[in-house]
Amino acid sequence: MSTVVNSRKVAVIGTGFVGSSSAFALMESGLFSEMILLDADQNRAEGEALDISHGLPFARPMKITAGTYDDLVDAAIIVITAGAGQKPGETRLDLVKKNVAIFRTIIGEIAKRNCQGILLIVANPVDILTYVALKLSGFPENRVFGSGTTLDTARLKYLLGERLSVDARSVHAWIIGEHGDSQIAAWSSANVSGVPLSDFCSMRGFTEHDQNMEDIAEDVKNSAYKIIEKKKATYYGVAVAVRRICEAIIRDEKSVLPVSSIQHGAFGIDGVALSMPAIVGKNGVEKQIPIKLSEKEQVELRKSADALKEVLKSIDL
Ligand code: LAC
Repeated sequence: MSTVVNSRKVAVIGTGFVGSSSAFALMESGLFSEMILLDADQNRAEGEALDISHGLPFARPMKITAGTYDDLVDAAIIVITAGAGQKPGETRLDLVKKNVAIFRTIIGEIAKRNCQGILLIVANPVDILTYVALKLSGFPENRVFGSGTTLDTARLKYLLGERLSVDARSVHAWIIGEHGDSQIAAWSSANVSGVPLSDFCSMRGFTEHDQNMEDIAEDVKNSAYKIIEKKKATYYGVAVAVRRICEAIIRDEKSVLPVSSIQHGAFGIDGVALSMPAIVGKNGVEKQIPIKLSEKEQVELRKSADALKEVLKSIDL
């Protein structure tokens, strides 16, 4: 029996810090009329559903309940945040073993049911888990992708906006590759409303352009570590990134977002999921866009892909 997707229904699997913050952001967005929260700890899911529901009189009507896999079959989007989070000093790739095992269960339950919605992977290491979810679910590639470097790109825009005293939304620059230590800042295509970034920096009186950009790229790459050292986890930034991606899907915006998706040869990379700017709409990832990268950036991107492929070799799919 074919499933009719309810385009106003979302499910969030995992109601820890990231999942509950994402659920809160999705409630505030008004994008959905129904949200199902799943967690191995049913009590936790019920508590989060109740807590977030009590804000509805200040937002818009929607039904928010804890549920089971049978309740998410017709969800337009299934957001998967379940899994261990980084501890201080841990890299995202250190979480592979634990979180792949969790994903085998979760994706197995989803694959058993005739879900026609989009799988939005958020748990880390998100590029590895996106690839695992694609392979284990058997879903079409456009319907399985990860938040990837959407948050890193937001961090880059934020830091550049602060540094250059300009609205971060007017900054156009990408973090691509792994959502992790091998990520790359695609400086060669960075601009502020069409003005090449280096020219805009000069206009603001910054001359040490290369050093400044290197420092900012390092800041972005190390943001999660810095926050985890201070407050043990990150969750608000990624929650708003989840909300932004869901908005592009549900409103069929065809927005360009650096989501993590399976690669098929661009820059000589295939057989791995990583982040490149892509058009996102009601059908999920519709098309990756051909951004220009310098030779150096292409070399770095291939290194990022190789680092992820090395990890994939250790996973039996
Ligand atoms: C971070 C987590 C979401 O970068 O990986 O904050």
